[in-house]
Amino acid sequence: MKPRKIREGVFWMGAVDWERRLFDALIPLPDGTSYNAYLVQGSEKTALLDTVDPSKAEELLEQLKNIPRIDYIIAHHAEQDHSGSLPLVLEKYPGAMVLATAKGVGMLRDHLLISEERFQVVEDGQALSLGGKTLKFLHTPWVHWPETMSSYLVEETILFSCDFFGSHLATTDLYADEARVYEPAKRYFAEIMMPFRAQIQKNLEKVEALELSLIAPSHGPVYAKPEFILSAYKDWVSSEPRNQVIVPYISMHGSLQAMVNRLVGALVDRGVQAEPYDLSVTDIGKLAVALVDCATVVFGTPAVLGGAHPHVVSAAYLADALRPKALFATLIGSYGWGAKLAEQVQGLVSHLKVEFLPPVLCRGFPREEDFKALEVLAEAIVQKHRERNLS
Ligand code: FEO
Repeated sequence: MKPRKIREGVFWMGAVDWERRLFDALIPLPDGTSYNAYLVQGSEKTALLDTVDPSKAEELLEQLKNIPRIDYIIAHHAEQDHSGSLPLVLEKYPGAMVLATAKGVGMLRDHLLISEERFQVVEDGQALSLGGKTLKFLHTPWVHWPETMSSYLVEETILFSCDFFGSHLATTDLYADEARVYEPAKRYFAEIMMPFRAQIQKNLEKVEALELSLIAPSHGPVYAKPEFILSAYKDWVSSEPRNQVIVPYISMHGSLQAMVNRLVGALVDRGVQAEPYDLSVTDIGKLAVALVDCATVVFGTPAVLGGAHPHVVSAAYLADALRPKALFATLIGSYGWGAKLAEQVQGLVSHLKVEFLPPVLCRGFPREEDFKALEVLAEAIVQKHRERNLS
């Protein structure tokens, strides 16, 4: 794709990665992704904002073929999907300097082995004049690594936010179709931003103080209506969960499936939104999205070799790492000859600030008393949600 003009002297560059299906060898990308770089040309200097994943370096170099000079490469974030083509761009432009936060410089040196003399550290609030165009740097740590920053193009009121507000969405739309981008943007928030909600909140306040006409992230389309994504982020980082329960579970021989069906039905009957996630088929990104708003997580597992099923262990570990705002958790389980399922799973979610409710365990296939215990659990969850006035 050729560079796409956003404003006079401001261009989108980069690559759409339609086929990529996995990020960090972990995160599913059902909608592909893009790596957005931006070119800002002032009357005196030219800056390239980020690069692209090394797999797409040739596309970026082709877009740069008629750009004779780049003075600055702004490296908002050291992760390789944005910085990985830096060495090739630096080779093409031997006079260019890389501008990054102090932490960013260290990480870029470590990951890309770029020599010290190519770097210049920029401070929070520092401005860089390109001649009629001014970039102001905002340190925005933890979106998504501790070194991350954003750039604000003062004259055009555009925020270049890198991962912040991004979405893994391959599209030829330069500007966001809000109905289409909402889910991928939420998924992106859930997967990489959610653990740092307090920091994101502070960064949001910083961004909201700016006059904004566009937010241009480094993944997915540009937001022509910044208030759309700002308002979504405010909702996602808020500390108030919804009246929702999610049930990540595995069923090997039908016992857990029967328990999950009864529990979900009992919750829905009582006016609680409840969703089961069969971990044998659910992609973990979908589970991460569900964790953004839910108030209660009920893990469901059969006993396997004396413990929880490995898929449930993995889901509990993931939930613990993502630090959602859930208030309650518990476990439902089935066993043949005994296992400390609840203790194990409770230990795995020790970083969550949740009250662990009494679990429901049964031997083999659930009997009437087990179904009754699930109804009691559903009622207990409803009461807990009511006490917190969740809606
Ligand atoms: Fe898009 Fe954290 O890299």
